[in-house]
Amino acid sequence: MFEKMGDWKRTSYCGELTAADIGKNACLMGWVQRRRDHGGLIFIDLRDRAGIMQLVFSPESQGNVHEAAHGLRSEFVVAVKGSVRRRPEGTANPNLSTGQVEMDVQEIRILNDSEPLPFMIEDDSDVAETTRLKYRYLDLRRPSLQNKLVLRHKVSMATRNYLADNGFIEVETPVLTKSTPEGARDFLVPSRLSPGHFFALPQSPQLFKQILMVAGMDRYFQVVKCFRDEDLRADRQPEFTQIDAEMSFVDREDVISVMEGLIIKIFSEAGLTVNPPFPRLTYAEAVGRFGVDNPDVRFGLELVDLTKALAGSGFKVFNDAASKGGVVKAICVSGGASFSRKDLDDLTGIAASFGAKGLAWVKVTEEGWQSPIAKFLLDDEKNAITSATGAKVGDLLLFAADKAAVANTVLGRLRLNIGGRLGLIPKDELKFVWVTDFPMFDYDETEKRHVAVHHPFTAPMDEDLELMDTAPLQVRAKAYDLVLNGSEIGGGSIRIHRSDIQEKVFAMLGIQKEEAMERFGFLLEALSFGTPPHGGIAFGLDRIMSIITKSDSIRDVIAFPKTQKGADLMTDAPSVVDQKQLDELFVRVAKKV
Ligand code: AMO
Ligand code: AMP
Repeated sequence: MFEKMGDWKRTSYCGELTAADIGKNACLMGWVQRRRDHGGLIFIDLRDRAGIMQLVFSPESQGNVHEAAHGLRSEFVVAVKGSVRRRPEGTANPNLSTGQVEMDVQEIRILNDSEPLPFMIEDDSDVAETTRLKYRYLDLRRPSLQNKLVLRHKVSMATRNYLADNGFIEVETPVLTKSTPEGARDFLVPSRLSPGHFFALPQSPQLFKQILMVAGMDRYFQVVKCFRDEDLRADRQPEFTQIDAEMSFVDREDVISVMEGLIIKIFSEAGLTVNPPFPRLTYAEAVGRFGVDNPDVRFGLELVDLTKALAGSGFKVFNDAASKGGVVKAICVSGGASFSRKDLDDLTGIAASFGAKGLAWVKVTEEGWQSPIAKFLLDDEKNAITSATGAKVGDLLLFAADKAAVANTVLGRLRLNIGGRLGLIPKDELKFVWVTDFPMFDYDETEKRHVAVHHPFTAPMDEDLELMDTAPLQVRAKAYDLVLNGSEIGGGSIRIHRSDIQEKVFAMLGIQKEEAMERFGFLLEALSFGTPPHGGIAFGLDRIMSIITKSDSIRDVIAFPKTQKGADLMTDAPSVVDQKQLDELFVRVAKKV
């Protein structure tokens, strides 16, 4: 029923024809976007990757061409031959690159038909994401998604070219490997040949890239899939792509300066100009001023520390926090005095969800302070608050009194929420910041042990080495993150290159010698054979692409993403497997759900 392409050869993409082609013959192949029947004339918008071309079928044309056009439906696949001509006066479409021209079709071959579609192939069609993901191949026909994939490809190419030009060698590392600790849960793959043994999918190529430095590769990179079994959010996928790099004989500044060059290239692919060197914040400054280690510095609303001013306050909550080694901090929301009771209840709810025990507030009005806590505060304290926060009539102050970690998180989250509510965040700005000097360790209350803030191979700062035994939480690491508009787009560190320091760090993390040998013996052994000082970084390509393309979710820049629940709706993975397969792997499912 359908015709063959036969000896027809496409002469150009639909979206490529312009006024320069007027008078030429062309052969186009693509999908029917739309058919408009004007009694006599039939218009077809033919679509391919490059764009749309208007085809015109006239009743006077030879043979069955006009009749064939009658039968065309959305997403039929056709090949046409005809001549390119200027559209009649007044019918040009300035929104299309091909808007000056149309094709007068002389021959057509219908190569395939299409079932009626579950949704229209249009950028602004309002379709549930689950439907779009199930029919991802149709979703991907939409120009906006195609453009995102094309741009992603260009960014990958630019990355490879830039890194290759700078002496980096792309080396592939295994996907079936041993657990690499990056803080998330591993995906495991049972081994058929070694019953009861498992591979882990890499959370990153961290250990391999360090070993490549031991191996003398000097500069490595890879555009690489990483796998992390963690709770998913808008900016997280269980498998995602890193631009991963490692360099020998370098310090932090070397890594940062090469990578700033890479960022320039990446953004220029999208026509965006960025101007390194990017500003720096230490971790302590970032958390102190913005409440989080991935600060969105596109707007103010910074946290103000009032602990000193309010120690000894008549308001017990403040006094208690200060005297127990905690903090009292506030943000001053310009114009926030107009917030309603409901707004304040909302904010209190958000604060509570991040661990706050309450959210004291003050509205600064013409008549003075309107606040449930005003009566507890002395004039001196009020004056100190006003001068530290710069609060004016019309403003709202929000306070958190707690352990520093809780108070910072709570106000950091409120800051983002309020920034969004009040439209304080300039959407078109790109604000990069390097966050440096991360703490080496954090204390995990549930596990009752120190854990690595970055990963256990990150080097401590030389000047903090002596604090390892006495004040481990004060030891800073040679670690750095690149943050863009409040999103952590990359992170890395200078590594430990001496096995004695590596062993010491494992000991601090409560990893016993035998366990360390069992899990990372190969790395420790490698480090003992002449390891160069080295360091590196990995960027989250999906996150970078979603910011560049202003997507709501990183799913939009991944061809075949997973849902929030980690499922692939198109292939229906994960799925149950045959008992035979399980038997071969010596795997028994304990609980069928
Ligand atoms: P890190 O764990 O910080 O560092 O990861 C590097 C970058 O990868 C991105 N990223 C993710 N993107 C999407 N979905 C996820 N689930 C996800 N997890 C991380 C982030 C992050 O900044 N081996 C070290 C790098 C190094 O030290 O060189 C590492 O993996 O943008
Ligand atoms: P209370 O005296 O407990 O009713 O608290 C008075 C005000 O202080 C209320 O608005 C509470 O939300 C607020 N509040 C209570 N605990 C804290 C805290 N840890 N930090 C900030 N505000 C708090």
